[in-house]
Amino acid sequence: MASLTVRQLDDRLKKQLRLRAAKHGRSVEDEVRNILRSAAADTEEFATLSPPAEHQERHTNQTHDAARLRVLLIIGGGIAAYKSLDLIRRLKERGAVVRAIMTAAAQEFVTPLSAGALTGGKVFTDLFDTESEFDVGHIRLARETDVIVVAPATADLMAKMAGGHADDLASTVLLATDKKILLAPAMNPRMWENVATRRNLAQLTADGVAIVGPNAGEMAERNEAGAGRMAEPLEIVAAIELLRGKTHALAGKRVIVTSGPTYEPIDPVRYIANRSSGKQGHAIAAAAAAAGAEVVLISGPVDVPDPIGTKVTKVETARDMLRAVEAAQPADVAIFTAAVADWRMAEPSSQKIKKSGKGAPELALVENPDILATVAHDKSLRPKLVIGFAAETEKVIENAKAKLAKKGCDWIIANDVSPASGVMGGDRNTIHIVTQRGVESLPPQSKDEVADAIITRIAAELGGAKR
Ligand SMILES: Cc1cc2nc3c(=O)[nH]c(=O)nc-3n(C[C@H](O)[C@H](O)[C@H](O)COP(=O)(O)O)c2cc1C
Repeated sequence: MASLTVRQLDDRLKKQLRLRAAKHGRSVEDEVRNILRSAAADTEEFATLSPPAEHQERHTNQTHDAARLRVLLIIGGGIAAYKSLDLIRRLKERGAVVRAIMTAAAQEFVTPLSAGALTGGKVFTDLFDTESEFDVGHIRLARETDVIVVAPATADLMAKMAGGHADDLASTVLLATDKKILLAPAMNPRMWENVATRRNLAQLTADGVAIVGPNAGEMAERNEAGAGRMAEPLEIVAAIELLRGKTHALAGKRVIVTSGPTYEPIDPVRYIANRSSGKQGHAIAAAAAAAGAEVVLISGPVDVPDPIGTKVTKVETARDMLRAVEAAQPADVAIFTAAVADWRMAEPSSQKIKKSGKGAPELALVENPDILATVAHDKSLRPKLVIGFAAETEKVIENAKAKLAKKGCDWIIANDVSPASGVMGGDRNTIHIVTQRGVESLPPQSKDEVADAIITRIAAELGGAKR
């Protein structure tokens, strides 16, 4: 290639070039060559991210470019940093454009060279790096992205974010951004359980920051187990897609959700029921639909509105619900959130039962069909993933484990529905996901967030992620 002579540089630019060259121990000419080389390398990935202001409109009209998800990945200083490299790979496989920032501590675990080799671009590490500030700058890093993902999110980064600190590149970008933020916390279980981390988590959740994980299980440290393991890369990808609003995490999947209570008639005016509001089941159906699934929601009598984008079948009794579930098959996933009455009247009275003056009538009850067990054990109809809910008032996890073994389903999602928990009819829930692999306990959160967390895990499971 012919040599290139650049004339008429303004003094400010010349001064910056001299400073950069001196900093890197290069001649000004070599420094310019270096800038051009890295600009050429970056062009392929980032030309669409960083168009000059006057060309921005032209770029936003290019659907090909606009369709590519832009992720700014902040890698914190934890052992799970190695998993972020796989996360970059997974995102790139899906066509995302990934930029990475690494904290100083992160660089003790993985190198910017590895992360850069996977993103295909420069990895940003230093707030006061003239070169980076000159090329992109922390404000552009904060803004030229669709979503910021912090993985692993260390206890320290969470504390900084909760407190609004900005003393390095990662925290400054997090403070300067107006984009959606997703944290994938990873830390020792005691750090995760620490009241300070709990406080910071609550603050961040209240601030609208989305959280994926952490999962429960063995930690990298010897003899350590509990909640604190970073979510798997595919779970994080699914969470990013959900966060983005437009998601395909469950595209092409058919999902059956049951919700609400059942009413079992005693006579034409009385019935046996429970306090289930349908809020959790309906939120799950809505989250599955938002993730691109074809959703059949089979609901008992509830006051909550039908979720957008779902096909709703309304039923009253457990037997009606079972019939509707069977009619809705085949499906990829069945989530049995409904609080189905265990018993019904052996012979409901066709007329209103009257006071006879001889004491209360005897109500002879029989067991209702077990919808979860019926579907889970039916080899011809069984969806790939069968999930039951266990509403318990005591020994929540112990009872859920027993239920998992007895019902033949894949997961039991246990929640404490004792009156003190406020779950029945309330807007918040605390769940424990019990599988053959162990128990994952999620923090208390809104029923919508619980639904998103469940759908994220389902998408990861169907995508082949190990948990
Ligand atoms: C071997 C080792 C492993 C660590 N793993 C974690 C971890 O998994 N999560 C965490 O929050 N902190 C972990 N730390 C502590 C952080 O590295 C430390 O708090 C650091 O200041 C975090 O910096 P950053 O938040 O800027 O990345 C670890 C430290 C060491 C020495």
